[in-house]
Amino acid sequence: MRIDILTLFPEMFTGFLDGSLLGEARRARLIDVCLTNIRDFAEGVHRQVDDRPYGGGPGMLLMPGPVVSCVEAVQQQADAPGHLVMLTPGGRRLDQAGVEELARKQRIVLVCGRYEGFDDRVRETLQPDEISIGDYVLSGGEVAAMVIVDAVARLLPGVLGDEESARQDSFSGADRLVEGPQYTRPREFRGLRVPDVLLSGDHGRIATWRHEQAVDATRRRVPANLSPNRS
Ligand SMILES: C[S@@+](CC[C@H](N)C(=O)[O-])C[C@H]1O[C@@H](n2cnc3c(N)ncnc32)[C@H](O)[C@@H]1O
Repeated sequence: MRIDILTLFPEMFTGFLDGSLLGEARRARLIDVCLTNIRDFAEGVHRQVDDRPYGGGPGMLLMPGPVVSCVEAVQQQADAPGHLVMLTPGGRRLDQAGVEELARKQRIVLVCGRYEGFDDRVRETLQPDEISIGDYVLSGGEVAAMVIVDAVARLLPGVLGDEESARQDSFSGADRLVEGPQYTRPREFRGLRVPDVLLSGDHGRIATWRHEQAVDATRRRVPANLSPNRS
């Protein structure tokens, strides 16, 4: 998979892209992440990318010209233009099903906003998939893009050592259950003991216990996922 990130702050991705799982996946060529600076598509000596909003109001907006030119240039860098995502708090809220949908694409292009966001003609011109990572406001789309890259990368074949672990994670699989409690050594910590069933060696009982715990955790956290009418 190829992921393009269009941003005014490409340097924010240093470290993130090289670390741990993602760094290994890139070195193994399981995922290719390309950064493009939106400012490279701005005109004039000052390379201006933002301006005051018409009608007044606080802050600055990203002008449509540099953003649209940048997207169009990046889309032409590969055979397919890719699935275009604009990061915005007003977009559809990302969940694990949405991450799985993105992980099935061959190419994703993520456009990061800044300041007070985008001139609306960016959306009108490009008709992107508008995605929010939650109902709160970040200073820019870069952290949201990192969230998407991280969540998508771990679903790609070969990225996790054991692919079964992604299938068993919270919100994953057909049932979308939240994972129940897990334990490692020591058997007792500050008087808290690992449940006996996990030490029993009885795989059937362990599987049943884990499922019950996951149903309990889901009932507490996201009861809607237990609804028979869940979509
Ligand atoms: C300060 S925010 C702009 C907020 C905008 N004025 C509003 O009220 O919706 C700047 C940029 O951060 C990114 N951003 C902020 N919160 C986000 C979220 N929850 N999900 C995805 N992107 C977000 C977007 O790219 C946005 O254009």
